[in-house]
Order: sequence, then C-alpha cells, then structure tokens
Amino acid sequence: MKKVVLAYSGGLDTSCIIPWLKDRGYEIIALVGDVGQGDDMEQVKAKAIASGASKAYCLDLKQELIEQYALPTLKAGALYEGKYNLACALSRPLIAYHQVQVAKKEKADGLVHGCTGKGNDQVRFEVTYRLQAPHLEVIAPVRVWEFKSRDEEIDYAKSKGVPVVASKKKPYSIDTNVYGRAMESGILEDPMVEPPEDIFYMTIDPKKAPNTPGYVEVGFEKGIPVSVDGVKMKPLALVLKLNEIAGKHGVGRVDMIENRLVGIKSRELYENPAGTVLHIAIREIESLVLDRDSLRFKEALSQKYAELVYNGLWWTPLKAQMDAFFNKYHEHTTGVARIKLYKGCAMPVGRKSPFSRYSDKMATYGKGDTFDQSLAEGFIKLWTVPFQRHS
Ligand code: ARG
Repeated sequence: MKKVVLAYSGGLDTSCIIPWLKDRGYEIIALVGDVGQGDDMEQVKAKAIASGASKAYCLDLKQELIEQYALPTLKAGALYEGKYNLACALSRPLIAYHQVQVAKKEKADGLVHGCTGKGNDQVRFEVTYRLQAPHLEVIAPVRVWEFKSRDEEIDYAKSKGVPVVASKKKPYSIDTNVYGRAMESGILEDPMVEPPEDIFYMTIDPKKAPNTPGYVEVGFEKGIPVSVDGVKMKPLALVLKLNEIAGKHGVGRVDMIENRLVGIKSRELYENPAGTVLHIAIREIESLVLDRDSLRFKEALSQKYAELVYNGLWWTPLKAQMDAFFNKYHEHTTGVARIKLYKGCAMPVGRKSPFSRYSDKMATYGKGDTFDQSLAEGFIKLWTVPFQRHS
C-alpha cells in the first residue's frame, strides 16, 4: 500500500480526501499545521482519524509563520497589488515544507493537498513539493474528483462515515492564521456588493470603534519589530498584541479585486490589523534613516517580492537574494513609529531613530538654518544644462 501525507485542515474537502484516497489503495497520514486558525487541534486530529487516516500529526507553526515568513515579507515591504499582506500565501510554503519533513520521516510515497485547480494555493504547495521532494508523487484530489458540489461531498462523507459538522450551505470560503484572514465566494463574488459586517472577525465595525483615537508606538531594531508601547515582545506575541489593539479600532480591512496566478480576477476581503500597522510603522522609520536612492530602489523590489510570494516562488534563488538585500537595507531601521488609530484608519503621526538622517538645522525655515541657499542658483543652472541647446 502506498503511503501519503495529506495537508489536513479538518474541513469538508480534506476530510473527503481521506476515504477517497483509501478507496484507491492509499494509506493516509494527516498533517495539521496550526497557524492560528483557531480550531481545537485535538478535535481536528480526532476527525482525521475518524475519517480513516492511519495517523495524525499536529504542528504548532505560529511562531515560525511570523518569524520566518511574515517578518521577511514585512522587511521587503511586500503587499500584493499594493494591498494584500500575503498572510495566506505565506502559510502554504510553510505547511508544505513541514509536510515534506513528515513524508521523509514516515518514508511516504506521496504528498496530498486539498486545493482546487482555480486558485493560487495549489501552486504554492506543489512548487514547494517539487523543489524539496521531487521524487514524491503529488496528488490533488479536488482537481480531479467526481463531486460537483458541496452537497455531493457531504453525501459522500456521510456514506463513508466521515463526521460532518458543517451545514449544507456555507456562505464564504475563509482562510485564517495569526497574520490575517481572507474571505471569498458567496455574495462577495459580486464586486459591487458591500461585505456584510458579520464576515469580519479580527476587526470591529469602525462605526462601533472608540470615538477617541488610540495611539500605538511600535519599536524596531534593524527592521524587526521588537516592542509595543515600550514593552519588549517576541514577534508572535507582538503580532497578537497589535491584532488586538488595531482590531479594536477597526483597522486592517481590505476589499480588493486581485489577479490570481491562473489568470482569474477574484474578489477578496482581508483583515490584517497587525500587518497594517507594521507596514505603516516600518516605512516611517525607513523614511527617516534611508537615503532617497535606497528608498526608491526598494519600491520596485517590494513589488517583485510580493509577486514571488503570491505566485508560490518562496523557495527560489531570487527570493533568497532579495532577503539578503533587505537585511542590508534595514541595517539602520531602528527606532520607534507612533501610529494613530481611529475608526478604521491607521495614520503615522510620529517617528524617531538614533540613525535619523533628518536634520532640523537643514530643514528649518526658522532660526539656526545651516542650508546655504546661495548654492541653489548654481545648482539649478547645472541641472538644466542637459536640456538646453548649446551652440
Ligand atoms: N486570495 C488569497 C491568496 O491567494 C487567499 C486565498 C485563500 N482564501 C480563502 N478565502 N480561502 O493568497
């Protein structure tokens, strides 16, 4: 019998995969990656076994998700199409990596995921598999199986003794981890429909947020967030804290039409309170400590980095090369940014750093100005030279 390791969530798709593969002669080991989706992991493991898996592993991957995936992406300033902090896209190469480790340990013959053939996640899983375990068989049952609807899957699950908790109607497809949450499908498929309030979970309705603004100060060392309001914190604790603080002010909602790798435009809703504050905060410190050329050059790389992550190319040479660039780039991104939170908005209102290049003596229009204005005349003459006709 061939042994396979399945990236298992406990949802209907991955639960149906177990009997479906068993009937085709496979032994299934379920791997649950706890990235902060908020499920009871013991229950999820028990469900895998009840559905017919021979073994179920659960790995707590929250810290790794933040430290090894989210922070490099933050340092890169990467927001897909300028908006999406890539929370879901980051969890896939992480889970796939651990799936490969379990497959090696268990001497498995294949790797299985429950993604559809229309999304980005299949790519993120399979590129990781192919790069890290090219000898293993890859199976994506949802792309090829006979079920045409959720109802058919539920009937199948029942016929196979798979515990079914979900009702036949499921209004949205949701993906959650500690760094953010994505919601799609159902009524959200109409791009003109405003999302109903009940889809949000990490952020309060801005209308119900406090009527007085909140302030939060985020401290950074070399591009890594290290403190909130002066209290030192490890990255995961810091992200959880910022989710709470910003979420209370309704900060971190994104509504966008995004371009999937497979070419489809899709409407996604995101919530990422901590990510929103962190991206704003790190940029503020960069703006103080970095020179103009470095800042401009980085913008192009941020976009490229976001595309690589989104498109499943986490484990590729260019991504690693860019990490090296960003580590150097952030050598002096140390300091504090002060962010004001008010009814769904996050605004930078202060920034400081021991490596600041900002000079009040140069900038001031008041007393103590050290900028020699007489130099400007010659500067402008030379600046214009290339555009003039010279005889
Ligand atoms: N569109 C996002 C991405 O490709 C999220 C995918 C999962 N979304 C969901 N609602 N199930 O990264």
